[in-house]
Amino acid sequence: MSYLEQRLGLRGKVALIVGGGGGLGRAIAYELAAADVALTLCDRDEEGLQETVTRIEADGGQVVAVAGDARTSETLTRTFAASSARYGRLDILANVVGGTFRQPFVQSDDRAWQTLMRTNFLWLLESTQRAVEQMTPTAAAAGASIINVTSIEAHRAAPNFAVYAAMKAAVTSLTRSLALEFAPLGIRVNTIAPDVVPTEGMARISRARGAEPPLADSPSGRLTARVGVPMGRAGTYQDVGGCALFLAADLSRFVTGMSLHPDGGALASSGWFNWPDAGYANFPPAGALRGYLGEEAATPQPPHSTAG
Ligand SMILES: NC(=O)c1ccc[n+]([C@@H]2O[C@H](COP(=O)([O-])OP(=O)(O)OC[C@H]3O[C@@H](n4cnc5c(N)ncnc54)[C@H](O)[C@@H]3O)[C@@H](O)[C@H]2O)c1
Repeated sequence: MSYLEQRLGLRGKVALIVGGGGGLGRAIAYELAAADVALTLCDRDEEGLQETVTRIEADGGQVVAVAGDARTSETLTRTFAASSARYGRLDILANVVGGTFRQPFVQSDDRAWQTLMRTNFLWLLESTQRAVEQMTPTAAAAGASIINVTSIEAHRAAPNFAVYAAMKAAVTSLTRSLALEFAPLGIRVNTIAPDVVPTEGMARISRARGAEPPLADSPSGRLTARVGVPMGRAGTYQDVGGCALFLAADLSRFVTGMSLHPDGGALASSGWFNWPDAGYANFPPAGALRGYLGEEAATPQPPHSTAG
């Protein structure tokens, strides 16, 4: 075993990924499978699930797939039972399912609130409880890790996504409390809080209002990334997968109750924008947009505020 394989300590471990058949969950599945982790994947997209399974098996990985809506107790029961029957242990849980839609808060209603709570928070309680039951027999000796995928919106304001942001913040808070409750059991709990990664889920939110996906490969997308993300680009599947690998592995064995932020510095920038030719300022300096949006758009606007 190489030095890095020893430091990861992942060989022979078992992970369950809720939402592992597409998007960021699939990226996490590929990372863990490549590190010799045996997997159980739950996803409601049967086709996506099958594609994921086919690739992992082609690469020599072990995987069990369960199709269903993870927000139901019935699907979670089947998923955890299938994992237990195949592997008899559980070391890593990635809770990935989540989603949102753009809606001004004053237009939202009870149906929207219930959907956002169910999709982003409630199922995760049951998933976590079931995982801890299966992890407890081995975690004290081998260590176990629960990874909750939240969002940058859990850590900042998100106009038109207020309830989604609140639910992701709820997961962040839950993560901290459970990190303390589970520390004596040898189970760590952390979050990954990405900014935009161009997944199908992100594209769906944009399509719903006839807009192009944020940070897409287009003039306005590139400008947004240049200005709003210090590292100047959207996130990738590997950026998030890498964080999951770290949090699953022994490399992070003393890390619990924390959030990792694969966001290119977006959260740290917190209102500071990196304008072309002008650098950091919290409003567009004269001429900063020339060359990106043309002469008209380059006319400076009066600032709302100045750096304080
Ligand atoms: N993509 C981003 O920019 C971004 C940024 C911040 C946070 N996130 C979070 O990351 C997570 C994954 O997002 P994504 O962009 O990969 O989404 P996605 O829609 O592209 O993929 C999500 C996967 O989960 C599955 N899924 C969705 N609802 C399910 C359900 N109820 N039961 C079973 N499977 C279900 C989908 O079929 C799909 O395979 C979400 O929690 C999202 O809030 C994403």
